[in-house]
Amino acid sequence: MFLDTANYEEIEAALALGIFDGVTTNPTILLKEYRSRFDMMTLASQMGIPFLFVQVVGNRMEDMWEDYLLLLEQSDHMHGTSIGVKVPLHHEGIRFIKKVKQSDPQFPVLGTAIYTAEQAIIGSLAGCHYLSPYVNRMASNSLNPYVEIKRMRQFIDNQGLDVQILAASFHESQEVVQALEAGAHSATISYQMYQDLINNKLALLDIHTFNDHARQLPTGENV
Ligand code: G3P
Repeated sequence: MFLDTANYEEIEAALALGIFDGVTTNPTILLKEYRSRFDMMTLASQMGIPFLFVQVVGNRMEDMWEDYLLLLEQSDHMHGTSIGVKVPLHHEGIRFIKKVKQSDPQFPVLGTAIYTAEQAIIGSLAGCHYLSPYVNRMASNSLNPYVEIKRMRQFIDNQGLDVQILAASFHESQEVVQALEAGAHSATISYQMYQDLINNKLALLDIHTFNDHARQLPTGENV
C-alpha cells in the first residue's frame, strides 16, 4: 500500500507503521503543503521514504521529457529513496512513456488520472508498471469505478501483463475495500483514510470497555 500525501507529520506517522511501501504525490497534493516536487524529493531522502512517486508535468511529450530529466537530475542527490514517475494517461503521456521505456525500460512508471478501463488497457500496453484509477472521481462523474477496475484487471490477467492496479482517490473507506474486491492489487490512500480504515467505532468502544474493566480487576496479590 502507498500513502498519498506530502505532509511531513502524516508521512512520519505512517512510515512508522510499516505497512506502506512508499509515498505518491501529485501537484495538487504538493500545493496543499506548498512544497515543490524537488523539495519533496529532498525531504523523502531525509525521511528515509523507501519509494517516492513524483508526477511529471507538461502538456506535450517534449515538455514532459524535459521535466523528467530535471527530476532525474534531482534524484542523483537522493540517498535511500527510489523514485518513479506518475504520468497522466492521455496521448502525450503514452508518447512520453514510450521515450522513457527506450531510455530506461525498468524505470518505474505509474499511469495516473485513469477514469476508464480503456485508458488502463492502453497504459498497460505502453509498459506502465502501475495504473491508478481514480475511484471517487469516477463515481462522482457517474462512472462505476468497480466495473472499470474489474475490466482492467481482467485484461491484465488475460494478457499476463506485469502491471499492478494501484487504486487512488478515495473519500469513503468502503471505496478502498470495494476497489480491492473488484481487482485492484493495492491502493494509495491518505493518512486520514488509513485512520478511517483502522479505527472502527465498535472496536474502539470495545477497547474502551476492556481498558475500563482491566482497571477494575483485582491486583492479583491474593493469588
Ligand atoms: O492519487 C490521486 C489522488 O490524489 C486523487 O485524489 O481525492 O483528489 O480525488 P482526490
